[in-house]
Amino acid sequence: MPKLSVNIDHVATVRQARRASEPSPLLAAHEAELGGADGITVHLREDRRHIQDDDVRQLRQSIRIPLNFEMAATDEMIEMALRIRPNSVMIVPEGRREITTEGGLDVVALADLLRTAVNRLTNAGIATSVFINAEARQVDAAAMIGVAICEVHTGPFAQSFTPEGTSGEHTAALLERIATIGSLIRDRGMRFNAGHGLNYRNVQAVAALEGVHELHIGHAIVSRAIFVGMQSAVAEMRALCRRSG
Ligand code: PXP
Repeated sequence: MPKLSVNIDHVATVRQARRASEPSPLLAAHEAELGGADGITVHLREDRRHIQDDDVRQLRQSIRIPLNFEMAATDEMIEMALRIRPNSVMIVPEGRREITTEGGLDVVALADLLRTAVNRLTNAGIATSVFINAEARQVDAAAMIGVAICEVHTGPFAQSFTPEGTSGEHTAALLERIATIGSLIRDRGMRFNAGHGLNYRNVQAVAALEGVHELHIGHAIVSRAIFVGMQSAVAEMRALCRRSG
């Protein structure tokens, strides 16, 4: 069964809607931990639209489960990661106008820039991952620049479900592609993680993939937490991952 790292960015999105102090991402992280989360992920965006610098600092000091720090490979964010020392860093592309991360990093095109970032983080003892589309050339490039972990973008797979939750051949082909890329990642000696767009309807197929180490899920869990609370929302997602194998 894969581990589950819960992305709590959207708890901060609600808080920032009022520039208030609640709901608290810190409390959300503690509740997620009680619900069985194996880790917490936060994305500190350049525009600080949800998570703030203080959130990352406070989470680092107070949660007991691993903190995964999602960021763009800018000098500002690398410096921040080196100060905060999260358990892992996940490097993503970042666009100011995007609503959420839209696609994987082009590791092939950005290899030189990313190699420098990965070296700095790895030398500081921080496990570093890149978020990539399910493409073999991206896996090869990631291995070349020395990353420890690749997170495969499950967005296209998730989007292939109809609003009613049904899926067809296209979905099966997209899942097969994630599986193939996952085994390539492991063959190249890296850890295979997956995430984006996963929810209570589609998670089981991804959780059942051979060798998938950790899933990163945010929007669906925070959305469900509004109705049932964070502990239960996380526990339900964990139960689905457990039943997938
Ligand atoms: N993985 C990455 C790289 C992401 O950027 C995000 C969204 O912040 C997630 C996983 C989680 O995606 P979702 O919120 O759709 O579960």
